[in-house]
Amino acid sequence: MIVVNISAILVIDLKTDANIIEGVIYMDKQKIIDEIIKLKREKDAIILAHNYQIPEVQEIADVVGDSLALSRAASNVDNKMIVFCGVHFMAESAKILSPDKKVLLPAKDAGCPMADMVTAEKLREYKEKNPDTYIVCYVNSSAAVKAECDICCTSSNALKVVSSVDAEKILFVPDRNLGNYVKNKVKDKQIDLWPGFCITHHRVKESEVIKAKEAHPDALVLVHPECNENVVKMADFVGSTSQIIEFATKSSSKKFIIGTEMGILHQLRKLNPDKRFYLLSPGFICANMKKTGLNDVLNALKYERFEITVPEDIRAKALTSLQRMMDIK
Ligand code: 13P
Ligand code: SF4
Repeated sequence: MIVVNISAILVIDLKTDANIIEGVIYMDKQKIIDEIIKLKREKDAIILAHNYQIPEVQEIADVVGDSLALSRAASNVDNKMIVFCGVHFMAESAKILSPDKKVLLPAKDAGCPMADMVTAEKLREYKEKNPDTYIVCYVNSSAAVKAECDICCTSSNALKVVSSVDAEKILFVPDRNLGNYVKNKVKDKQIDLWPGFCITHHRVKESEVIKAKEAHPDALVLVHPECNENVVKMADFVGSTSQIIEFATKSSSKKFIIGTEMGILHQLRKLNPDKRFYLLSPGFICANMKKTGLNDVLNALKYERFEITVPEDIRAKALTSLQRMMDIK
């Protein structure tokens, strides 16, 4: 009786790893992993995971990457089913790009608060007042917002996308920090910024960078452009999650202060066992990216839940914005 109860609790605790009795959980965890692999084959599914996912989820994924890499994977694979371990807008982008595939988001309420800071309705109001403004939309946005925009970008190609746009007046939505980073580099265009931000990246302070540099004076500072300007200006390198991983892997330096969500440490350490990585701030944790556990992935495959759908009229318009981005090499 007691054993049954313990095992039930342990399965729920998989996401935290903290209160785990090693030997017992190892058996349960391995059983879940075996079941995931079996169902994946049976259902012709592929598992995509963002760099911020918990280590166990990254380990069972077929592709781990940043938003752009995962979008490209979603549109290139032949599988019938995509299990997207990330947040809602990412799975939605996969569905927009691959309408014939069944796209599943294992944690139903894994959203992105920044994506919710702009709505299609508010954007339409802006467009009515500013009909000649070209709208560049960060992929961290809903399908309905993408459908109102002219082109999408991710943090890895925002500079390239904005530079390529043949327009003088641009509105960048919804991240004012990524938009500002681009604005400081692209001087020949008027760029207005939507007042959205990432609650995880924006809150990290310049004083935390100063403290981290004092603690690790010989480490390079690598940050995500969703950080605020005061943090970005102190960095040695600014890039998307995959660009940060690539930079650290190719660098001859041995120590790095990492200014983005803590999930990235898994790939950084896995690929660079001889290097040291220090998280810039304990605040770098995105609660939504931590909602997906192995159990959720298993249930997604078993019950084919939670399916992402996008109304066809919105999907077709959002696809145009996404496709324009994908066509930029
Ligand atoms: P990347 O595209 O760099 O992976 O970032 C996505 C994201 O949500 C950052 O907070
Ligand atoms: Fe959204 Fe920020 Fe979380 Fe990225 S880290 S998913 S931008 S809330």
